[in-house]
Amino acid sequence: MRMTPALVLVGSVVIFTASVFAVIVVPWQTMAHQPSAAWRELSADELAGRKLYIANGCTYCHSQFVRTQDWDLGMERISQPGDYLGLSPHLLGTTRTGPDLAQQGGEHPDDWHVAHLVSPRFTRPQSLMPRFEFLGQENIRLLIAYLQGMGGRDADQRVQRQQEWKARAVAAYNAGADENVKWLHDNVPEGWRPLPTPYPATEPSLQRGAKVYQDFCIGCHGPVGDGQGPAAPYLNPPPLNFTTLRRNLVDGKYIGGILYYQIMNGITGTAMPYFKHELESAKIWDVSNFIAANFIGFDDSNTEPAGIDASYEPLRTQKPASGRWRDHGKGDAP
Ligand code: HEC
Ligand code: HEC
Repeated sequence: MRMTPALVLVGSVVIFTASVFAVIVVPWQTMAHQPSAAWRELSADELAGRKLYIANGCTYCHSQFVRTQDWDLGMERISQPGDYLGLSPHLLGTTRTGPDLAQQGGEHPDDWHVAHLVSPRFTRPQSLMPRFEFLGQENIRLLIAYLQGMGGRDADQRVQRQQEWKARAVAAYNAGADENVKWLHDNVPEGWRPLPTPYPATEPSLQRGAKVYQDFCIGCHGPVGDGQGPAAPYLNPPPLNFTTLRRNLVDGKYIGGILYYQIMNGITGTAMPYFKHELESAKIWDVSNFIAANFIGFDDSNTEPAGIDASYEPLRTQKPASGRWRDHGKGDAP
């Protein structure tokens, strides 16, 4: 076929029409005009918070768009077109430097957000998110209102659940240290309480536990486990002072299962986050061993029944304060 001016013209028109169809008509047709089940209108405070969110560049690091391929990362819900109704500009975001915030509402209670916005290193020692303390109390309040609304009606349910548990946690805290620990432990299901640590507190386990503690826990529970980390002044109830557990080994010989359960699931209503998505099982046991051995002065990893000898690591060089040496590595023990 010869390239004539007429043919070039017809060809251009065909290509132009096809592009308009693909880029404008198709998306227009598929655009949602219906709200999703979770959608609701934003309140005045939430809209003001949204403006601050845009003005402070939160979108440069945070997306609000859970894609299908993110599902396995523990996301609550895949985003739907109807979630964004009436919001312009949409804040889908392009960079995922920080976690996706589409379902942020109710993930944490308000006091956690205050501490985190004042300095992200308080709640997450390794965070690279900038501090936003300069915004001042009122703006931080508005930002939190917006964050707690992310996820619409689903978020409202989670926020309500946080508030109900917060009331109980604060009441328990105000009742005194022993009552508080009793309340905390009563919320650990029966079956978990008599569970000893399945991994012995070997030297490497304690060292790994120390690293997990520094990377995730130290900003709240503090370097010596007394709950006096830099986040503490912002939190109610404040982070648990692990040394109070010494007096509270009410369940007898084991503390491992209790610690494991609380670290895995967090304590809803308090700033204590859940770590089930971030830390695999072995790391949770390692940090439990570290807390038990260093702050509580207790170590149940050498208690009977010992179970299978799964340790390929050298035993501790010092005899644990309360336990006895496990039988494996015969001849190593003094
Ligand atoms: C330079 C990148 C960056 C910017 C800008 C940024 N963040 Fe973050 N954000 C992060 C990273 C990384 C994390 C994960 C570590 C942490 O918890 O701090 C995070 C975590 C968060 C979390 C906790 C999510 C969760 O479920 O644990 C919230 C909420 C949040 N950011 C809100 C904001 C808000 C609001 C702004 C703007 C005022 C903002 N971020 C600006 C990088 C950023
Ligand atoms: C943002 C602050 C914060 C961070 C980070 C944090 N905690 Fe907590 N933690 C708390 C608060 C608050 C409580 C509950 C205090 C209360 O209700 O009295 C708590 C309670 C606990 C308990 C309950 C103990 C019991 O006997 O019931 C354990 C165990 C615990 N934290 C371990 C950890 C570990 C391990 C990490 C790090 C992997 C961690 N925490 C990170 C704030 C935090």
